[in-house]
Amino acid sequence: MINTSKEWTKRASNVLVDGGSSAARSSLVFHPYPPYIDHGLGSKIFDIEGRGYIDWMMAFGALPLGHAHPSIVDTVRNTIETGSHFAAATTVEVELAELICKLVPAAEKVRFCNTGTEAVMAAVRLARGYTGRKKIIKFEGHYHGWSDAVLVSSNPQKLSSLGHPHSPVGILDSSGIPAGAVENTIVVPWNDIDLLERVMRDKGRDVACVMMEGVMSNIGVIPPKDGYLQEVEKLCKKYDSLFYLDETVTGFRLSPGGCAELFDIKPDIVSFGKALGQGFPLAAICGKADVMDGLSWGKVMHYGTLNACRTLCAVSLAGLNELSKENNAGFKKLKQQGNYISEELKKIFMSQNKHSVICQNVGSIFQIYFTEKNKIENFREYCDCVDSAKYTRFANDLRKQGVYVNPSNSLHSISSTVHSNTDIDETIMAVEKVLSQLN
Ligand SMILES: Cc1ncc(COP(=O)(O)O)c(C=O)c1O
Repeated sequence: MINTSKEWTKRASNVLVDGGSSAARSSLVFHPYPPYIDHGLGSKIFDIEGRGYIDWMMAFGALPLGHAHPSIVDTVRNTIETGSHFAAATTVEVELAELICKLVPAAEKVRFCNTGTEAVMAAVRLARGYTGRKKIIKFEGHYHGWSDAVLVSSNPQKLSSLGHPHSPVGILDSSGIPAGAVENTIVVPWNDIDLLERVMRDKGRDVACVMMEGVMSNIGVIPPKDGYLQEVEKLCKKYDSLFYLDETVTGFRLSPGGCAELFDIKPDIVSFGKALGQGFPLAAICGKADVMDGLSWGKVMHYGTLNACRTLCAVSLAGLNELSKENNAGFKKLKQQGNYISEELKKIFMSQNKHSVICQNVGSIFQIYFTEKNKIENFREYCDCVDSAKYTRFANDLRKQGVYVNPSNSLHSISSTVHSNTDIDETIMAVEKVLSQLN
């Protein structure tokens, strides 16, 4: 009987594309091969060979409460015993929508779906349908899932391929996307209000929505400059374009009301995924009632067999109740542990002079960059000034010390409510050791 990760990797390569279920999980970034995970508990995961790791990836952010949290486990068990899904009206979808509207200032009405990608597709269609306009603005380095209209200029490139910031080259991230699918997608560099203003002055009246991640979190973690999001909101109002915040990463993570609450903005449309589902495929589109009513029957169409799946809504409700109980203690803990590990990382980076390395975080999401710069403020700086290959080596070495982060530098690490101070201290010791040996 085979039972090592090496052997399973060989077996997987015969039947799974790239030997895994996405590039970021396979040998493409996990060198020489990924550990096959057997189980998880709290802040830790354990591979099939019995090795334990402190997990700072947390299923790409889908597990704010960590692994196998008792309230999630109990809810799944209790719910599916009486039927997993009915594709019929259930009280739990109403209760969950009510809680979302209570927690998220930007949410007045909700529509459920299953993945972040789907939510983005529906949100873009809604924006176009509601405004009667075709164009959408997306930003360089922002990832919004893999649907045709938005899979452009998301992946890091050589700086010399990106064109002038006044007229960036929109780079398709995939074969198989017809040019027509992105002809109405305008790409703009992020975190520079003057660049957006130039484009809006010229094309604003044709723009259905300006869409963005409020914190750039698919190029590590890059916070918005002070006032940037508010300026974007104002520009959208000026040109009657919708402001669409994709909170797939930041939602139910950076604060109860996500990035919008943290930075005090009120987008017209917001989408959620990841943390909303607490490890299960649940996503949602929310926003101002008048805009959201555009999704009503006969207007902008959106369907889905598993929309508002009864078990998933119950799990999400349990998870959000857990995070928000006792005056949002769970949300506070996420932030506290994210800030703590980031501060400790910064301290050890400052105290050594072998590597030029920095850490950036917004609450519970953080990333390490090997760079000569003291901060990374946008996609172009990342492409030009960050040694992401070195990060991949660092992350793969860190795993040998029992610390699990994704080896792709454009992803990020994530704290949960169950990461303890001991987890953080052990992680810091491992980072120090790996840095001292890294070339
Ligand atoms: C900001 C953002 N939007 C959308 C998506 C797509 O979500 P999903 O992977 O659930 O389709 C992601 C996934 O990482 C994301 O980070």
